[in-house]
Parts: sequence; C-alpha cells; structure tokens
Amino acid sequence: MSAKLAQSVLAVPHSRIRELADIAFGMEDVLRLYFGESNQPTPAFIKRAAARALDAGFTFYTENAGLLSLREALADYYRRMHGVSLDPRREIVVTASGLQALNVALRCVLDPGDEALILTPAWPNGASIVSMSNARPVAIPQPLCGDRYQIDWQALEAAATPRTRLLLYTSPSNPLGWVATPEDQDRLLAFCRAHGLWLVADEVYERLWYETEHPGTPVPSILRKATRDDAAIAIQSFSKSYCMTGWRVGWLVARADLAQKATQLNEFIVSHAASFTQKAAETALAEGEPEIAAMVERLRSNRDYCLDALKRMPRVTVPRPDGAFYLFPKIEGLSDSFEFCRRLLLQTRVGLAPGVAFGAGGEGSIRICYAADREVLEPAMDRLGRFLALYSESEG
Ligand SMILES: Cc1ncc(COP(=O)(O)O)c(C=O)c1O
Repeated sequence: MSAKLAQSVLAVPHSRIRELADIAFGMEDVLRLYFGESNQPTPAFIKRAAARALDAGFTFYTENAGLLSLREALADYYRRMHGVSLDPRREIVVTASGLQALNVALRCVLDPGDEALILTPAWPNGASIVSMSNARPVAIPQPLCGDRYQIDWQALEAAATPRTRLLLYTSPSNPLGWVATPEDQDRLLAFCRAHGLWLVADEVYERLWYETEHPGTPVPSILRKATRDDAAIAIQSFSKSYCMTGWRVGWLVARADLAQKATQLNEFIVSHAASFTQKAAETALAEGEPEIAAMVERLRSNRDYCLDALKRMPRVTVPRPDGAFYLFPKIEGLSDSFEFCRRLLLQTRVGLAPGVAFGAGGEGSIRICYAADREVLEPAMDRLGRFLALYSESEG
C-alpha cells in the first residue's frame, strides 16, 4: 500500500488561467493580459513607507489580527468611505492577501459535506477553497439580460438546501465587471437571513468603479446594509486599489464571533501578514486617494478604448462593465475558450484568460484585463481583431 493524497485535495482543479500562463512563460514578447494586475509599479510613497518600517524595526511578529494601528486605520477608512462604524479590536482582521481573507473566512464557516453557493462566472479560487474544505461549490450562473448581468433569484432559491452554509458573490465582479445594485444587495441579504446563511461579499475591486462622478468613489460596501449582527463578511485587499499584488496584504470585516475565530486560525495558517507591509498599508490608506483617482481615470479610458475596439470585431458581444478592470466578451459559436486562447497566444503572442476558467457560464467568452498600458493594449486589440477575422472565416 502506498500513501495517497487526500481526496479533497485531488478534487481541486488546476487553474486554467495558470495553465495558459505557463505556456506563455516559455515565450518571448507576449502581451500579457491574462492576470488580474496592471503593469504599474506600487506607488513610490508606499515603497518608501515599507523601507522606513523596516528601518524602524517592524521585523518582528505582530498580533494574529494584524497591527492594531492598521486595524484602526481600516476602521477610519470605513468611516470615511462608507459611513460605517467598526470595532477595530473585534470586527477587523488583517490577512496576508485578499485570497487569505477568503480562505480563512470560508474555513470558519464550512464543515465537510457542506455546500457553498457561488455566483459565477467568478474568480475560480473561491470554489477551489470550498473544495479544499471538503465542501461542495454550487455555481449559480449570472445570466446576461440585454446588456446587464443579473442575479438568477429563482436558481438561488432552488439551490438552497439544508447543507447550504454560505453565498459568495463578487462585486465589482471578476470577470464580469458587474456591480451589485443596492436592490441586489438588499435581496442577497434577505435571502441569506431567510436561509440562515453567511453572505460573503468579495469587495476587492470596490475602488475600481466607473459609474460615479468622482473617480475613486467606492462601490457601496455590503457593510452599509448589513448590521454588525448580520452573518456578513467583506473580503478585501490592498492588491488592486494600491497596485500591491506582490505584497500580500488584505483584510476581512465580519461579525465579531467569526472575526475572533479567523484571528485564531491565522495563527495556524500564516500567523499574520508581514509586519513591515502592514505599516506600508497604513500609509497607503492615509495618502493613497490621489493615486487611486488617477488610476481609475486611466482605467476608464482603457476600458472605453478596448470596448470600442471589441465592438468593431466580428462575432463579439460585450456588455459595458461598471467596475473592476476586465472585459468579458462573448464570442459567437465559441465552444472551447481554452483552445481559442492557446491558438491566439501561439499565433499572435496575445495572452488572454479563457472564459472556461471562471466556471459555469464562462465558456464561450474570453477575459481581457485592461489594466495594462496603452502600448500593450493597442497592439493586443489589433492582433485580436485580426485573429478573430481569420477565425470567423475558418469557422464559417
Ligand atoms: C475576485 C478576487 N478576489 C480576491 C482576489 C485576491 O487578491 P489578493 O489575494 O492579491 O489580495 C482576486 C485577485 O485576483 C480577485 O480577482
């Protein structure tokens, strides 16, 4: 008898985005638009804050919940951005990334055999964390009605069982760019209250919103609607708002009992986010607003440029996204988005993410991250257009 790997681990599928990226890593001069990050470096004032923190001795362990000074800064952020009052000692936990916030939050809620409802197409990591927890992800695809994605309320009701523990949604959405309306938020909360579920709101793209007069205004958090006694969890990150993907700092806000448990579990997962990055994150919160506003302006212009280009391409239907930094065009007649992206990559050196990577409802589409510079986006759109024209001819 040889030792085996755990079933729950074997059940976790490979990321199809990574699979494509792995082909691209062996190639030169690829226009890489498959990952969710811009090619802008972290702003210099944040890097300098990290250097100062190292010099000042932030090289030791911190609390499992993160430095109290950062949690206080986050409480202040919620007061300023959302008019929400939080207890930094009981309701906020600093984590080593948004991903780790999601991981520890789901681990606090799921027992083996439980079910988790997930609005899809979605960033695949949520479903994989559910599988790693010996639980079952249940996809609820978001239908495209006209030019807006919706929530399929009937499908949600039909999917809730006595084993259902949570509902996970992402707003602004990766990959759809969809933003939950205030009515959506009310209904999601009501649904979770009625079924006794945790509502997990992935809000890591909250600052990337285009339907607002002032660039940088956040999408209203679910925490404005939920009371502090509601079973609500907000997942957050410094990655997208402050161009800090490689730093691995995030946080979660949750009902106090979950936040306390997540704090304790952190000890056994990563202990805490790196000390000096937490100090730099404090500076990002305090001084980052002008940079965010400028970034959102740049992203809005990139979005509009790519949208215009896509609308001129054959077979393409693409709703205008309200937030995040992705376009998710549907390609008429496309049944194998991975193969499409593989051929696009090999023939044109444009790297996009296949829609199939984002679960139910994703096949037939491709995801374009438009956070890159124009020097990258313009040739990428040009090559995609020419590839699609040829593809259209060959597919008839
Ligand atoms: C929807 C969503 N949630 C969470 C994350 C996690 O970001 P990070 O782990 O870098 O904080 C990402 C990253 O792509 C994402 O797309």
